[in-house]
Amino acid sequence: MGYVIALAGKGGTGKTTIASLIIRLIKEKKMGSILAIDADPNSNLSEALAVETKETIADVLDEITKDPAKIPVSMPKDRFIEYKVSGAIQEADGFDILTMGRPEGQGCYCYVNNVLRNIMSKLIKEYDYIVIDNEAGLEHLSRRTTRSADSLMVISDATLVGLKAAKRIKTISEELGIKIKKNFLLINSAAKEIEKEKLALTGLEYLGFIPFDPEIEKASLNGNSLMDLKEDALSINALRNILEIKL
Ligand SMILES: Nc1ncnc2c1ncn2[C@@H]1O[C@H](COP(=O)(O)OP(=O)(O)O)[C@@H](O)[C@H]1O
Ligand SMILES: [Mg+2]
Repeated sequence: MGYVIALAGKGGTGKTTIASLIIRLIKEKKMGSILAIDADPNSNLSEALAVETKETIADVLDEITKDPAKIPVSMPKDRFIEYKVSGAIQEADGFDILTMGRPEGQGCYCYVNNVLRNIMSKLIKEYDYIVIDNEAGLEHLSRRTTRSADSLMVISDATLVGLKAAKRIKTISEELGIKIKKNFLLINSAAKEIEKEKLALTGLEYLGFIPFDPEIEKASLNGNSLMDLKEDALSINALRNILEIKL
């Protein structure tokens, strides 16, 4: 059974960046096989990892709901969806990646979402680590990908508003009934440590902070993969120390 790390947080807090760095460190440490899931409809995890997305799950779902005649009569519908989803998994250097995308249709996706959840449960067993870059609202985590995670990593900036939003995310995950073994808080782009009392407000276990890293800024401006970030970049060093303790 793979270890599921789900990232959540307000838009722009650094979910995609940290997800990419986590993937990079798991690869660097040769900890096992990795499935990266880009569950944000404004998909950009593949961009951060410099992988060109060919087909998203949304494309698959749209195709099937728009044109059910495409499903071969010889094949049960759920088997066909599973086959198409497998085809959407892209192999990259040291990890596989699956992009959820944004379905265009207004139709009811209940059936396909159910099938998709089953497929995800199976997929999770095939990898050692599954890193899910979520949209801010966590909806995908419950609806499309999985209803459980070993660790939920909430990313926040160092502001009080940010920390309150982090707390809300924990509440939402509870309300959605997502089973989470560990809830963590990671502060990103901070200049210094934050007072313990403020961190405690979130009800999340504080992991540490990642400093603002000019190397990330450079990679982002130039469209370079975060997998190619310098080994001793500030952010990588900070995360390496944090994960050393927790992963
Ligand atoms: N530690 C950091 N140092 C420098 N820039 C960062 C850092 N973390 C994130 N960024 C930049 O901030 C922006 C938002 O980060 P991103 O990971 O896309 O956030 P999210 O996925 O939560 O919306 C990106 O341009 C990214 O390059
Ligand atoms: Mg993002």
